[in-house]
Amino acid sequence: MIRETIVTTRHADGRVHIAPLGLIEDGDALVIAPFRPSTTLDNLVSNPHAVANYCTDVLVFAGCLTGRRDWPVHAATRVPGVVLDQALAHDELEVERVDDDPQRPRFRCRVVHSETHAPFQGFNRAQAAVVEAAILVSRLHMLPMEKIEREIEYLKIAVDKTAGPRERQAWEWLMTRVAEHRARPPEPPR
Ligand SMILES: Cc1cc2nc3c(=O)[nH]c(=O)nc-3n(C[C@H](O)[C@H](O)[C@H](O)COP(=O)(O)O)c2cc1C
Repeated sequence: MIRETIVTTRHADGRVHIAPLGLIEDGDALVIAPFRPSTTLDNLVSNPHAVANYCTDVLVFAGCLTGRRDWPVHAATRVPGVVLDQALAHDELEVERVDDDPQRPRFRCRVVHSETHAPFQGFNRAQAAVVEAAILVSRLHMLPMEKIEREIEYLKIAVDKTAGPRERQAWEWLMTRVAEHRARPPEPPR
């Protein structure tokens, strides 16, 4: 199973990096698999720790994909990392093995500490739709525009029917990014 999370890491100079990433469950371990190039990947090489933040605030997912990465954090308990203030729960991770790969290395992580901060309050279809749209936005450069538009049209139904203000704002940020991409002139052939 893949859990869609917000992963926090630290740059070599201590600065915090926040990125949405799908963590792959592998027994008791969690695998972080960033595609190259990736700041998360570079950070895991220089500081082999991360925090998996379980977060239903989709503004963080949409924000990270649209240049808004400055979310409030506090110090983690066991690893030299940070926890997102909005996380309902988090796992603190230590890299125990790296399977290198030219395209997508895999960092197998041991969970060294876990905390719960707030109750899960149920599924919301607009939150799921925003997460799906955020994935589309992360792949704008790879996907045909017709596919993106077809999927957005479907996802919008859940947003229109079930969103609260944060989901609406997140959706708007992502749709602005899609509109900017649509307006961009096509890349010249190489
Ligand atoms: C829900 C979600 C899951 C994602 N999972 C991955 C992933 O597993 N690997 C990856 O390389 N990018 C993933 N992305 C895209 C990254 O968030 C995005 O490319 C990000 O900038 C990671 O690169 P960075 O480490 O340089 O910040 C995901 C995006 C979303 C919205």
